[in-house]
Amino acid sequence: MRLDLTPDELLSTTRAVRKRLDLERPVEREVLEECLELAQQAPTASYSQNWHFVVVTDAAKRAALGELWRQVAYPYLSRGGERSGQLARIGDAVVHLAEHIQDVPVHVIPCVEGRLEGKPNALVASRFGSIIPAAWSFMLAARSRGLGSVWTTFHLMHEREAAEILGIPYDDVTQVALIPVAYTKGTDFKPGKRKPLDSMVHWDEW
Ligand SMILES: Cc1cc2nc3c(=O)[nH]c(=O)nc-3n(C[C@H](O)[C@H](O)[C@H](O)COP(=O)(O)O)c2cc1C
Repeated sequence: MRLDLTPDELLSTTRAVRKRLDLERPVEREVLEECLELAQQAPTASYSQNWHFVVVTDAAKRAALGELWRQVAYPYLSRGGERSGQLARIGDAVVHLAEHIQDVPVHVIPCVEGRLEGKPNALVASRFGSIIPAAWSFMLAARSRGLGSVWTTFHLMHEREAAEILGIPYDDVTQVALIPVAYTKGTDFKPGKRKPLDSMVHWDEW
């Protein structure tokens, strides 16, 4: 499936999708491979693309990852008491995803080679900067094919356990996110609410 979106529509409507993931509909491997091939076109800091994507479809592995995700999500959500407005809506959606994450048909884990703990910021920035554009390209390509996704980092608090589940060599490879992927229920998404541009853009000086 290809959605008829202009580039600007694609960029402004690729939302964090949690409640509208279709848990019943399988995602074809070929579609994921198309998205990953597009992701490979993103810029990287080194000539050798020193990153990897672990695509998890195995149900038992998704269940085990989901357990790690929940162990961080639930305490995070219970922090800070009552929430209202947008935060409450996001909290509600995160609870929904926490309850169903094991049923999302695909979990994609972008990884980059090396460990970054205690390294200089220039190195950390260039390593994360090498994988994140590719992962975002993957999410954009997915959206244009009717798939929804959401960037998540909760499971990284248990990165070593996730590495064991997936056979990732923890000492040599850093996980960057866990991106649940599924077809969306409906394909109409709106641009998100954002701060005024002038509160975050600085021309010539801060
Ligand atoms: C670095 C990063 C980490 C995030 N971690 C999580 C997470 O662990 N769990 C989650 O449900 N969403 C996570 N999100 C999604 C955000 O909470 C937020 O919903 C999203 O970026 C904005 O959604 P929108 O573009 O649809 O407005 C993360 C996003 C980013 C960029």
